[in-house]
Amino acid sequence: MTQPQRTVILLAAGEGKRMKSALPKVLHEVLGRSLVGHVLAAAAPLDPAETMVVVGHGADQVTAHLATMAPGARTVLQEEQLGTGHATRVALDALPDAVGTVVVLYGDTPLLQASTLRDLCVAHEQGGHAATVLTASVDDPSGLGRILRDSNGAFAAIVEQKDATPEQLAITEINSGMYAFDAARLRVALKGLTTDNAQREEYLTQALTLMLEAGHSVGTHTAADVADTLGCNDREQLAWLRGLMQKRVNSALMRSGVTLDDPATTWVDVTARVGVDVTIRPNVQVMGSTVIGDGAEIGPDSTLTDTVVGSGATVVRAHTLGASVGAKATVGPFAYLRPDAELAEGAKVGTFVEVKNSRVGLGSKVPHLSYVGDATIGAGANIGAGTIVANYDGVAKHRTEIGDAVFVGSDSVIIAPVSIADGSYVAAGSAVNEDVPSGALGVARGRQRNIEGWVAKKRPGTKTAKAAEKAAEQRSE
Ligand code: UD1
Ligand code: CA
Repeated sequence: MTQPQRTVILLAAGEGKRMKSALPKVLHEVLGRSLVGHVLAAAAPLDPAETMVVVGHGADQVTAHLATMAPGARTVLQEEQLGTGHATRVALDALPDAVGTVVVLYGDTPLLQASTLRDLCVAHEQGGHAATVLTASVDDPSGLGRILRDSNGAFAAIVEQKDATPEQLAITEINSGMYAFDAARLRVALKGLTTDNAQREEYLTQALTLMLEAGHSVGTHTAADVADTLGCNDREQLAWLRGLMQKRVNSALMRSGVTLDDPATTWVDVTARVGVDVTIRPNVQVMGSTVIGDGAEIGPDSTLTDTVVGSGATVVRAHTLGASVGAKATVGPFAYLRPDAELAEGAKVGTFVEVKNSRVGLGSKVPHLSYVGDATIGAGANIGAGTIVANYDGVAKHRTEIGDAVFVGSDSVIIAPVSIADGSYVAAGSAVNEDVPSGALGVARGRQRNIEGWVAKKRPGTKTAKAAEKAAEQRSE
């Protein structure tokens, strides 16, 4: 049987009042994606002919977000939130060509998985139903629509919490709010909706009753994992859902060959990738488009965002953003890699070192207490403790070139723009503002002079003066 055309309608016009947020609810984030982004990602494998998102509250923000993360999705404005049935009709009216299966989803169920939607569609299409409801059995059904069944166990109706009798409230099989519909039958049913209910809204659930009354079949499909159906109404639920997703992501990582010392404090975005035999220590966030190569060791206490880490690299107590760390390179403890920090293979960026828009060449080392900005460092260089690349003159940023095997002595300031050629030295404590030619030692500091007898004259009677006297006595013995 060839697969019928599929169309996705995603309802996201509601206010999400209980989030108490200026940000529309569906734009809140869970492990690297917005709530609505997760739902769209789950729907994408259905290969829908169209994806129509119903927007209302915060429409401009939601539309702008979708334009960047799901440019294939279209939006339609529901000016007044008159109920889920009304919202669905607004969408379907904007989809005059939709035939086959229409899948209705919400924008706030981030744990929804592609497999669940696939199973729902298959159950619906193979069952030849006019509608198929995705249901779940939950411990606490409060607030949700209950599934009513007839004496044969067949679907009979959905009753909302606010319309339910005490006996109906005891039912724990709930309506997820997600459905697969036959497009043509849905169009007809939506025309018949009334507002004859406790909330004076057009309930989409009434469409199912109308279909049954018209003699069509309505099926149900139970989600394999209840979590797939969980919506997010407030920030406590947001944190709870984030925790559930963390467990899913982490168990997939461990099954794929990643060691997590402490899964409870490991937060890997769904957009990140982690290779095999990677070890992640406690308190690590792997965010955005970060990619970690095989055998790398990350953490403890590190946050990596949009960062590429090569195989066998080590990143300890670091904060990185838009950086790339070569194979077998080492970072930290206590390092900050900013955008376009690029560490070649085997490079080292050590303790209390910040690197921005700079390349640290093959095997080069910046081990301690340094700032490297807008610089290119060749291979095999050693940048001494406390070196600062002064890239900013107060108006503009300038570049610094440091060649292969250069040795920069400790506590130097390299004042850009300047070039320190291959195979040269800079004396410790220099303030370098002129190029250093290849093979030279650049010395750029005051010459030392010693004032003999200064301590006895200027600090008589101090412990320093006494120590000097004692040293003089020992010399004369
Ligand atoms: C709905 C279902 C209920 C189900 C529950 C699951 C109905 C009548 N009830 O109830 O059976 O258990 O979802 O969460 O459908 N929306 C719009 N426009 C509107 C109204 C709603 O876009 O005019 C969107 C909301 O943004 C939200 C979704 O539809 O994402 C659900 O709306 P909501 O009012 O929260 O429905 P529930 O009362 O939760
Ligand atoms: Ca809801």
